Amino acid sequence: MSDNSLYFKNSMAGLIAVAIVIFGAKTFFVGSSSSGKIDNSTLEERIQPIGQVYLEGEVDVAAIAAVKPKAVVKKSRSGEAVYTASCAGCHSIGIAGAPKTNNKADWAPRLKRGMDDLVKVAISGKGAMPPKGTCGTCSADELRAAIEHMTK
Ligand code: HEC
Repeated sequence: MSDNSLYFKNSMAGLIAVAIVIFGAKTFFVGSSSSGKIDNSTLEERIQPIGQVYLEGEVDVAAIAAVKPKAVVKKSRSGEAVYTASCAGCHSIGIAGAPKTNNKADWAPRLKRGMDDLVKVAISGKGAMPPKGTCGTCSADELRAAIEHMTK
């Protein structure tokens, strides 16, 4: 036996080994059905691109855009709830000269200026009265309800 044929034998054995490994891997990953055919539908599913491009006109974009998400209806707090949580601390006993809750003498001159003006001042704050009366998340309507609650 010459060196050449030994080399040929060894490389053939190597090739066969590689072929077995590849075949094994193919059967493992792709799977083989009993008929030896690969089911095309599952194959197509597997090789689907991750994303798909829609060209203009292909899809009715306007119809999709017209679908509005359900409006988030923020339920506003009652005047009493806002007052109790944020205003009562000062206004119930008149801390730092705050007009006392439901005290006509304290509120009458202020109410003369009109509710709109009181809401405006409540939002911006005045003297010892902090902006929004410490209710940072209060809307103007909620502040108005709270003022109405303490000026009854
Ligand atoms: C830290 C104490 C404090 C808190 C809390 C507070 N106030 Fe006041 N508020 C005052 C003081 C003091 C005044 C008087 C300010 C002045 O006339 O100089 C006042 C005055 C007001 C006035 C009259 C403003 C004017 O133009 O005369 C309104 C309206 C008012 N507060 C609304 C509110 C509302 C609504 C809340 C709660 C959301 C609130 N306040 C919470 C201290 C407070």
